[in-house]
Amino acid sequence: MGSSLKPPSGTQKGYSLKMRHQTILILDFGSQYTQLIARRIREQAVYSEIHPFNVPLDKIRAMAPAGIVLSGGPMSCYEPGAPTVSPEIYELGVPVLGICYGAQLTARLLGGKVEKADKHEYGRAHVTVGEAAGLFRGLPAGEELAVWMSHGDRVVALPPGFHNVGESHNSPAAAFADPARGIHCVQFHPEVAHTPRGAELLANFLFGICGCTADWSMASFVDDAVARIRAQVGDSGRIVCGLSGGVDSSVAAAIIHKAIGDRLTCIFVDNGLLRLGEREQVAALFRDHFQGELRVIDAADRFLTALAGVTDPEKKRKIIGYEFIAVFEEEAKKIDGARFLAQGTLYPDVIESVSFKGPSAVIKSHHNVGGLPERMNLALVEPLRELFKDEVRLLGAELGLPRHMLWRQPFPGPGLAVRCLGEQTRARLDVLRAADAIVEEEIRAAGLYEAIWQSFGVLLPVKSVGVMGDARTYEETLAIRAVYSKDGMTADWVPLPYDLLARMSTRIINEVRGINRVVYDITSKPPGTIEWE
Ligand code: XMP
Repeated sequence: MGSSLKPPSGTQKGYSLKMRHQTILILDFGSQYTQLIARRIREQAVYSEIHPFNVPLDKIRAMAPAGIVLSGGPMSCYEPGAPTVSPEIYELGVPVLGICYGAQLTARLLGGKVEKADKHEYGRAHVTVGEAAGLFRGLPAGEELAVWMSHGDRVVALPPGFHNVGESHNSPAAAFADPARGIHCVQFHPEVAHTPRGAELLANFLFGICGCTADWSMASFVDDAVARIRAQVGDSGRIVCGLSGGVDSSVAAAIIHKAIGDRLTCIFVDNGLLRLGEREQVAALFRDHFQGELRVIDAADRFLTALAGVTDPEKKRKIIGYEFIAVFEEEAKKIDGARFLAQGTLYPDVIESVSFKGPSAVIKSHHNVGGLPERMNLALVEPLRELFKDEVRLLGAELGLPRHMLWRQPFPGPGLAVRCLGEQTRARLDVLRAADAIVEEEIRAAGLYEAIWQSFGVLLPVKSVGVMGDARTYEETLAIRAVYSKDGMTADWVPLPYDLLARMSTRIINEVRGINRVVYDITSKPPGTIEWE
């Protein structure tokens, strides 16, 4: 997301409108696990939001959180310039959970002492439960809990009013609390899978200490989101939504349609770089699940003409991005009274742009309609900006979208252009489409489609000699790519069963004219990328 995009009116970037459900506020000190804290809390049906550690106190008061979590972070709290909070946070009458850096900072701010530890504690450790109360309610005192530690500092003197509730080999104060003030601190990370009973500790904080009631559900989100969309666009506002066929834009369109019905117009641009049957699938999905207006723009000629003769990957991407914006703008201008543009921005993008760590370095701007909102003076509507990807899928299911749509593998904005190496011609794209469809069909038939992050074919401009029947062939090569990943940032190649690879290879060579050799890509990311260009 570009920083110049307008946030929905009535909100300030990073601060959502007050919703009806309880909120746990997470203050981010830069830990790699901060998002995980938010997810673990939401998994317990309690809404949570991440804000930078320095969010002003009056904003916190206005949010009226049910509890505050101070995240971990990479610095030492006694270093000059280390991130901190106003000690008044502890006087708000709101329970506080300090995790790792958050625990050390709490100790230091309230009069305890933090020092560099003789021995760092990284990885698995054991904490002995001191008392079966507070965070440890329901766990027998004296029991050893497996936990995940990641710190080089330790608390050597507790602040007044605190007492030890758990200790580890290297940290006498692995857990400490002042229950009267509702302040609970742990040196370890309850949010990670390596702390197997972490969910119970978080549940104790949420339900036992903060008094939360598990009121965050997709059904309640739908009501909130519909109300907010209506409030933002008013009685006559019209919203334009670019559909890509992917999960995010489809779910965004579905919730907007629920809110404003036929005042939503969706635009789907066929850039000639789609997969087999994709345009028809999007149109059918729309027909079956929306009653709104869909404009399918056939821009294949335009894109393929602009791409003719271009083989440089970066040039291809630039051309596609430029053409997409041009086509979208032309079409959006034809829609009378359109003042809003819908975008399927997700919570991780929002956090990246407001968090302590600063804007993300990796922004796939051309996939969004970058620059368009300002040029056309459109305000953004971003109904998914509080949601993680898996929550978007739950929302889609709540709205009645079909499973095959919600569990589609990601597909890049520049489409087959980044998988059709060399020149983009209709003929070569058709060859790739046919082969790619076989890959998908076989992966689905093997029951692997949803477990795999992405699986697809890549057409290489590499010709080799083969023999089919009695004839010599001289055709191009298809590389099959299949990777496991959690977020696309890193990926492992999938050890597909040999019989599956064999079936794909035989079918592709027999059924697709133009390919006489199939290879399997065994490169992980890093060092490779998922796409070939
Ligand atoms: P790479 O190839 O960088 O891809 O390992 C990581 C993930 O991002 C997708 N991808 C894109 N998505 N526009 C998009 O919307 C793009 O330009 C783009 N390039 C890569 C890719 O499919 C993978 O999931």
